[in-house]
Parts: sequence; structure tokens; C-alpha cells
Amino acid sequence: MTNGNTLWHGRFAGGPAEALQKLNDSLPFDQRMFREDIAGSRSHVRMLESVGLINKEELDAIMAALLQVENEIAEGTIRWAANDEDIHTAVERRATELAPAAAKMHTGRSRNDQVANDVRLFVKSEVDDLVSLAFELIAVIRTRAEEAHAEGIYLPGYTHMQQAQPVSLAHHLAAYCWMLLRYVDRLKDAKRRTDVSVLGAGALAGSSLPLNPAFTAADLGFDQLFENSLDAVSDRDFVADVLYALTTLGIHLSKLGEELVIWASSEFAFITLDDAFSTGSSMMPQKKNPDIAELARGKAGRLIGNLTGFLATQKGLPLAYNKDLQEDKEPLFDSCDTARLTLLALRGMIQTLDFNAEAMKLAADSPYAAATDLAEYLVEQGLPFRDAHALVGGLVRDSLVGAKSFAELVRDHPSLGHEAQKLLEPGASYQRRKTHGSGGPEAVRMQLDRLNSLLESAL
Ligand code: ARG
Repeated sequence: MTNGNTLWHGRFAGGPAEALQKLNDSLPFDQRMFREDIAGSRSHVRMLESVGLINKEELDAIMAALLQVENEIAEGTIRWAANDEDIHTAVERRATELAPAAAKMHTGRSRNDQVANDVRLFVKSEVDDLVSLAFELIAVIRTRAEEAHAEGIYLPGYTHMQQAQPVSLAHHLAAYCWMLLRYVDRLKDAKRRTDVSVLGAGALAGSSLPLNPAFTAADLGFDQLFENSLDAVSDRDFVADVLYALTTLGIHLSKLGEELVIWASSEFAFITLDDAFSTGSSMMPQKKNPDIAELARGKAGRLIGNLTGFLATQKGLPLAYNKDLQEDKEPLFDSCDTARLTLLALRGMIQTLDFNAEAMKLAADSPYAAATDLAEYLVEQGLPFRDAHALVGGLVRDSLVGAKSFAELVRDHPSLGHEAQKLLEPGASYQRRKTHGSGGPEAVRMQLDRLNSLLESAL
């Protein structure tokens, strides 16, 4: 190992040990940010020229070299060197080979402000992508909800996983749209705090050179500029913010996944999966498995792990930059990739599955499902709700132990009778729920309209 080409070779008598290099090198994963790194370098050298720290010829030479480095990396023709510790080192090393003037590129800059800026640029573009993918899934669920609404499909709503009150399928599906919209909102919020340029903070304390950090901030399209160089190089709150937003997405999708798994079971049979979005068993020929839904459920674990792991990494770090912060990238990349793949696969799965309206209806048509609506019917007749609840509860108990069915008991009760018995007819009870945000058809229509106009303005 030579000691001629590390970034700090001047100070050191010997080269780095292999174990140090293996632990320390981030190039295997941070090369993914090469475009952000080169974009940052372009702005930085433009700024250096604007303040007279390099001349026009040097700027042109460095720009040409950076373009070539970008192409070499994009095409996979770049030859990484043994001492390319990270993407910043590699880009500068290769650019300097191509244009000696690139040795001036790092003037007034440290990898500490450079890497923080790169990660910010990366997060900004990832967030945009993840937001559009979420909207695509929301749009698919919305379309399925519209279809279900048009067909008047309803199913049991559950609490404690016990049948509670029937709801329209559109209502159930739309619940996931609102959930996902909150995730989008969280991501956008995280982006707002990410949108701060930190180039110019230097290693930790700024620079004695006449730099113009506002120039690079504007040139790179950042919304804000850092206020404190120590904070600027240390702050990874925005990474944790994004990881948290992705974790809530993971939790949402795990719930959706769990319901799809249950619904696809033979016992429920509420849905039939498309062959292209389900898998078989190597041993049991009859099997059709909801792997996508199971993975949507399972991936939440790794998203939570990435978040909590990175929070732990940051705990107790003194100011300013510490190498621990290099641990920001792998969880960030992994969570973005996990979210992207899960969103895509679930979108296809939901787009292509069939809802078994008959099975849903059959499950929802248990006369007991209308018990709450019967109590509300009695309230409309002037009975206090507690008494109404006790009366209907008594009929449920009698039907379970006695000879008469629940419907007969309702019909024969002086306060209920034929009119109330109509509520036990298939699909009758949920139709009566009309309040804002409730699960009856009219309220759901209004809800879907609100959802549609929100999506129209967002898309
Ligand atoms: N690879 C490093 C990271 O990802 C870049 C910054 C290193 N800075 C330093 N002074 N060693 O955090």
C-alpha cells in the first residue's frame, strides 16, 4: 500500500491498514450519490470563479473534467482506485487526473459540508419520487373504491377483529387513501427541512476565504441557507425525518398487507388475487399465496429498524462532524428502496385483484350486524341510548339461548316491530349512516368527492 494518495497523505508516514479501509470506506454505497456530488462540485467551482478564487480557464477545465467523470460513472467505465474512500474522494481524484486544475476544486470546502449537501440533494429528489409513487397507489385504491361504490358492495366492519357494523367497501378502501395522504404530507414536511444548503460550512467553522455560500445555495436550487456551520455539518435530523415518514408508510402498508392476507384466505375469501401478483407453493399444488401482502407487512420491520438504528447512531454525538454520521446513508437508501418496491408491488396487486362481493355481503348480512342501528332506531323513538342498548342486547341474548331468532324477537317486540325488522334486511343498516365521514353510501359519495378534488389539486 502506498501512502501517496490518501487525502491526508501529507501528515501520515504510512498508508492505512486494510481493516481500517474496509470499515471506513463508504464508496461501495455512497457512489449512488455521484450525480448529487458532481452537481455540488459544479456549483462550488462556479462560486469559486465568481469570487475570483479560480479563473475562467480553470473553471472550464474543471467543468469538462466533471462532465467526463459523470459520464464514466454513469456508463460504469470509471476505474475506482484503492484509495477512493468515498464518492467525494473518487470524483475529485478522477477529475484531477483529467484536469490538473481540479486540484483547486476543494478550495474552501470539506467533505463534511460536501457530504451533508449531497445527502440533502439526494433526499430532495427521492422525496419527489416517493410522493409520486404514493399518489399512484392512492389513485389505484381510489379507483377501486369508486367501482365498489358504484356496485354498492359492503362488508362487515370490524373492531377487535370481531364483526361490528357493516360498511361500504368504498369506505374501507378510502380509509387507506387518507392514511397515505398523511404519509405524503409527512414526506413533504421532511423535504421542507431538508431544503437547506450547507455548502460553505467547511469542515466545521466556515472559511477565511471569501466564499459566497448564498451563491451555491441558489445555484443548487435550495430554499434556505444554513445559519451555523457547526450545526450545518452535524445535522442529520432531516434523514431521521424521512426515515420516520417512511416508517409510518411501512406501518400503513403493513396494515393493508395484513388485511389483504386475511381477505385472501379461504375462510374469508373476500378477494381473489391475480396470478401475476401471487405465488405458488413448491410442494402444495393447490396453493396461491399473497406474498406481496405478506412482504408489505414484513418490510415494516426493517423500516422501523432503519429509523431506530439511525436515531441510536446519532445519540450523544458531540459537535461537529463525526464519522458515525457516515451511517446515515445505508438506512436511508434501504428505506427509500424498500418503500419504492412495496408501493409498486401493492399498486399492481390492488389494481388486479377481484373483490368477491357475494362473500363480503354474506358475512355482513348477519342480523346481529344491525344491532347498533336497531338501538339508534329506538333512540329516534325517544328511548335513552343506554336503555336502547340494553333492550337490543337482551334480544341478542334471548336469540342465542331461546327458540326465537333475532329477527323474530325484533318483529315481536312492541317497541320494534316490522318497521325495525326492515333494518335487518341485507344491506339495509349501513344505508342509514349519513353523518360526515361515515360509512353509508351518501356520506361515502361526499367523502370520495372530497378525496377526488384533493387528488386533482395535488396531481
Ligand atoms: N464518507 C464520509 C461520510 O459519508 C464523508 C465525510 C468524511 N469526512 C471526513 N472528514 N472524514 O460521512
